[in-house]
Amino acid sequence: MLYDFFKFMAFKMDAEKAHELSIKALSNFPLAMADAFGGDIEDLKKYQVKLNSMNWSFPVGLAAGLDKNAKAINFFSRIPFGAVEVGTVTPLAQIGNDRPRLFRYIEEESLRNCMGFNNDGAEKILRNIQASDRVGKILGVNLGKNKTTSAEEAHLDYLKLFKTFKDHCDYLVINVSSPNTPGLRDLQRHESMREIFESLEDERKTCRTPLFIKISPDLPLDSLEGIVSLASEFKLSGIIATNTTIMEDRGIGGVSGKLLTEKGRLVRERLLEIMKDTPELDFIGVGGISNFSDVWDFWKSGGKACQIYSSFIFQGPSVLQDIKSGIDEKLKVNDLNNLEELFKNIKDCH
Ligand code: FNR
Repeated sequence: MLYDFFKFMAFKMDAEKAHELSIKALSNFPLAMADAFGGDIEDLKKYQVKLNSMNWSFPVGLAAGLDKNAKAINFFSRIPFGAVEVGTVTPLAQIGNDRPRLFRYIEEESLRNCMGFNNDGAEKILRNIQASDRVGKILGVNLGKNKTTSAEEAHLDYLKLFKTFKDHCDYLVINVSSPNTPGLRDLQRHESMREIFESLEDERKTCRTPLFIKISPDLPLDSLEGIVSLASEFKLSGIIATNTTIMEDRGIGGVSGKLLTEKGRLVRERLLEIMKDTPELDFIGVGGISNFSDVWDFWKSGGKACQIYSSFIFQGPSVLQDIKSGIDEKLKVNDLNNLEELFKNIKDCH
């Protein structure tokens, strides 16, 4: 109800303006009232998802880009998200691309953005993280290069960011998949990724912070094997797939939400198939997940932890409640107690 009213007002405004006002409101939101948005998960064990690199209290996390500047961690940690990913953070603050740069497709429950990593920069975002109280929730920080940093020097940006955030979060993400920073997606070439991972190697020896790579849904399916093998070679914690997709007929930028569901699903299924040979790698699924049925498809193909962005904009925190109800129902009909049991028996579950 609360969210329906909020959405009614917010959807009358320009999309980015509404976003800015929402983050401002949420950064000052009375935390005791977070229960009105779904509250916390009362039975931690029931919904817990154990990955190799970390445990989530709920299988759905908040995807990067919604709380770019880590201003509303306190709020997002108090609703049932299993993890909150902030960023993308670049070393220096930058204003991003010209406005308008965020568009809604209301009927299709989808968004298109060409934001261009607008953010307050590493120093300020680190301070926000340090000042936050996330009540034990998992926090991820998503890292990107500045627009003015050349491709040749990109690895230096990632190294700087890695050093800044490694002791202040539960996992880090190398983002080479936003379509809105010129040349960024070229860093998904194996030689470029190798250069980034090599430059982080010494630093990674001194800390155990899990490191993920987030990839685009527009990569050719036959290139995914190479990415998995690089992730395995450099002992990354895993892969996050996918970022937004380019749909030229819609305009510049990246499309997310229901328009991405099918493509995202195909890429995730292919990756999960390949990753059967690398059980040491974790996988976080994102892209067009908007209800329990999408989560169930993901689980049936071998995934466990996933993230949402667009469906949170269109449905609000009730999307988490709906997924929770879907889980409760599945556990009940399959006579299981918790998600760990469900994942062990997923093939026989209906
Ligand atoms: C994003 N996304 C994103 N991803 C990322 O790694 N860094 C970022 O800064 C952003 N910024 C961003 C802004 C906006 C307005 C949107 C809609 C999306 C991508 C996001 O994390 C996610 O991968 C995609 O949106 C696909 O998931 P959904 O939205 O279909 O659930």
